[in-house]
Amino acid sequence: MEIKEIIHNKEKYMDILLLGDEQESMIYKYLFRGHLYALYDDDLKTVCLATNESGTICEIKNLATYEKYQGNGYGHYMVKYIVEKYKNICKTLLVGTGEDEKTINFYKKCGFEYSHKIKDFFVNNYDHKIIENGNELKDMIYLKIEFD
Ligand SMILES: CC(C)(COP(=O)(O)OP(=O)(O)OC[C@H]1O[C@@H](n2cnc3c(N)ncnc32)[C@H](O)[C@@H]1OP(=O)(O)O)[C@@H](O)C(=O)NCCC(=O)NCCS
Repeated sequence: MEIKEIIHNKEKYMDILLLGDEQESMIYKYLFRGHLYALYDDDLKTVCLATNESGTICEIKNLATYEKYQGNGYGHYMVKYIVEKYKNICKTLLVGTGEDEKTINFYKKCGFEYSHKIKDFFVNNYDHKIIENGNELKDMIYLKIEFD
């Protein structure tokens, strides 16, 4: 298993990035300014894209594992890798997600805690309703890890 940073042709990863953020125009807002990491275990399993939002704040903008490989630990492995890397780069690592219990618990297990929310982010920024596990996502929930 190896994680590589993808420098060129990032748009080739659009199919898997769309699992983590289902509107292409939103992905293009961070794709080229962010750092894209790809986890390979023989073939591609998981991607993560992280941005530098300010001198001290970085943010995971996208995390996705191909559906048929979910539940095998690749997501946790990727987030652990990002946390280890970014603790030397920033003071706060943020991740924004919809109000979905499964996803929020996943990040809490990875060491994140609640930070803040942006009301109606999905309603105001996406051109269609985002449904996750049968529920419409409205607010963006931010979780964080503060590095000492
Ligand atoms: C969230 C996600 C990246 C986890 O990746 P993964 O490789 O399955 O992660 P792991 O195998 O390490 O961990 C699986 C855990 O994720 C949880 N999970 C969160 N969202 C999930 C989803 N949509 N589908 C399946 N499992 C999900 C599972 O409940 C499981 O929890 P557990 O550890 O208590 O059993 C993956 O499920 C995914 O790509 N989901 C769709 C995109 C998404 O929601 N991205 C996060 C928002 S940016």
